[in-house]
Amino acid sequence: MDKQKLIIKGGNRIEGELALHGAKNAALPLLAATVLIKDGECIIHNCPRLTDVDAALRILSHIGVKCRRDGGTVISDASAIGNCEIPVSLMREMRSSIVFLGSVLGRTRHCRMSYPGGCELGPRPIDLHLAALRSMGAVIEETHGFLDCTAPKGLKGTSVSLSFPSVGATENVMLAAVTASGVTEIEGAAKEPEICDLASFLVSCGADISGAGTDRIIIRGKDKLSGCEYSVMPDRIAAVTYLCCAAVTGGELILTGADITHIGAVVPFLKEMGCRIYSFGRDSIYIKAPERLRAPHTVRTMPYPGFPTDAQAPLMATCTVADGTAVFVENIFDNRYRHVSELLRMGAVIKTEGRVAVVQGVRRLSATELVSPDLRGGAALVIAALSAEGTSSIGGISHIDRGYESIEKALYSVGADIKRI
Ligand code: UD1
Repeated sequence: MDKQKLIIKGGNRIEGELALHGAKNAALPLLAATVLIKDGECIIHNCPRLTDVDAALRILSHIGVKCRRDGGTVISDASAIGNCEIPVSLMREMRSSIVFLGSVLGRTRHCRMSYPGGCELGPRPIDLHLAALRSMGAVIEETHGFLDCTAPKGLKGTSVSLSFPSVGATENVMLAAVTASGVTEIEGAAKEPEICDLASFLVSCGADISGAGTDRIIIRGKDKLSGCEYSVMPDRIAAVTYLCCAAVTGGELILTGADITHIGAVVPFLKEMGCRIYSFGRDSIYIKAPERLRAPHTVRTMPYPGFPTDAQAPLMATCTVADGTAVFVENIFDNRYRHVSELLRMGAVIKTEGRVAVVQGVRRLSATELVSPDLRGGAALVIAALSAEGTSSIGGISHIDRGYESIEKALYSVGADIKRI
């Protein structure tokens, strides 16, 4: 896949209507949750066709969950779980595979998986996940890059206090707690919409969860969960990405199957940059961009409901051609400016210092040969290439395929000159 490239001739306006796919970051924990369902099938609609989702399906198959895909729907049957060892090769395919720890441990009381290790965004510690699961009775040994986990007496509900509202740690505790004995209270929980989606799915399966979407989630353990039919929430980061594609090309776009309330921290910035943007109908977002964008005020990434770190690179690419100077402060990950060196090669003017990036808008970027540094950095390069003068090629697109369903088909359908070779 990494031999493939995206070829983008810049300058076309993005115009028309685009249907948004389901959220990667909601689908992955939902698929992990299916491990807990002893009784009946789970029918999960709007499950995006992404390489990260395929990797999650391979992990499920490996541990004995029967899965099949029918279009956008995944049907899983976890009535007969077998192998609880997840090999390095499968763990490496998807960095967020650690979310399987809580559900596999909850279901089988033991599992062995390789340590997920670092990733493009820098070290991805899992100390919060492990401390929380240990406080619920898990015995976890970390040896030679492996996590050997058992819960000899089963997992027990307790009070878990997270020192940072980690999305993954909150999901892991929820997954471990829904079938644990007693009550689990998560203090300092993450409030992302994907947490609410996981809670809604689990509740549809018979779990007892309250407070999802606040910083205090309470889970009363149940003996058994049963299958359900569920539809994954729309992908809010893909929504921001496509809105930025329209913004940077002076375009006009309708995104369907989208929820504007999930991107409440991003919309004011696009408005400040001169875009008209509003929701209409049940689930559509409309954007119309001006001919020239203006730089917005300082963008600071924060846990939800703050500005999402995953939207930082797409918005930065958009700001490279806005009039004025924009400042970004990245507060969530240490290594999240890897797209900057590629944008500089296109003629962008950006200075970084630690967590801060200062972007001075230029008239136009120039096309060149680019390589995606990571998933959202790759999306940023697509945005930049759409506005640039000339034809860019973007390599390393396996990163982009982790989170965007056929990005070239989506953008071609709304006017971009883009193809995959
Ligand atoms: C999830 C998202 C990712 C998004 C991120 C932040 C998925 C699959 N991925 O990742 O796209 O960028 O939320 O919104 O949903 N941390 C620790 N110790 C831990 C766990 C996290 O120090 O045990 C730190 C991380 O290093 C990072 C910060 O907490 O600096 C946020 O991480 P977290 O919220 O856990 O992100 P993920 O769940 O990995």
